[in-house]
Amino acid sequence: MTRPTFTLDGVAISFDEGQTIIEAARKAGVFIPFLCAHPEFPAHGSCRVCTVLVNGRAMASCTTKAADGQVVESNTAALTRDRQALVQMLFVEGNHFCPGCEKSGACTLQSLGKDLAVTSAGFAHESPTRPVDASHPDILLDFNRCILCELCVRASSDVDKKDVFALSGRGLDKHLIVNAESGRLADTGMATTDKAMSVCPVGVILWKRRGFADPIGKRPHDVESPRQRVEGKGKTS
Ligand code: FES
Repeated sequence: MTRPTFTLDGVAISFDEGQTIIEAARKAGVFIPFLCAHPEFPAHGSCRVCTVLVNGRAMASCTTKAADGQVVESNTAALTRDRQALVQMLFVEGNHFCPGCEKSGACTLQSLGKDLAVTSAGFAHESPTRPVDASHPDILLDFNRCILCELCVRASSDVDKKDVFALSGRGLDKHLIVNAESGRLADTGMATTDKAMSVCPVGVILWKRRGFADPIGKRPHDVESPRQRVEGKGKTS
């Protein structure tokens, strides 16, 4: 039986019923930029970095199901400009100092910025004042880098069954909080073995006493960037 197919930038991609566009593309080895999507969790659709044109309409490829005959465009100058602007806005909305961040070289936002050739902030830095939570004996939380992807919220709730994290506030006031009366991580059941420990795409949830372990050139995204992982062209492949 012939499998259903759509075209992505002119290339035919076959898919299984129920797959989203980004899942089908990933399986076919075609990279669509993303931030909040994670293969182990249902799509969230919050960052919009994965937006593509589906039959001419802008849609998030992580939440849009693939359909037979769809004409999908991802690699266009306009979409690249939009993605660059989204990344720039995320950078200026928080406090991101890549050279001093323990997650440098393993950060999806940083990798995406490189992939999209973002070389300037583009907008005025908001430089918010955000706390760091160092109350837990083994885990440090740096809220300055949060991009509100909710992956830690979902991992803690759906996998760890602990509900350690939540988002509070609305609109520009939305921010990540720790679900404890004190607001401190030490007063939750968070453990370093939790799924929530490993899903943060940026540098919010960190191990204490562990950082900068890999030299530049050998860090995870130096060895294999998210694009290389999808395209199967990493140095390890
Ligand atoms: Fe699709 Fe974030 S990756 S909206």
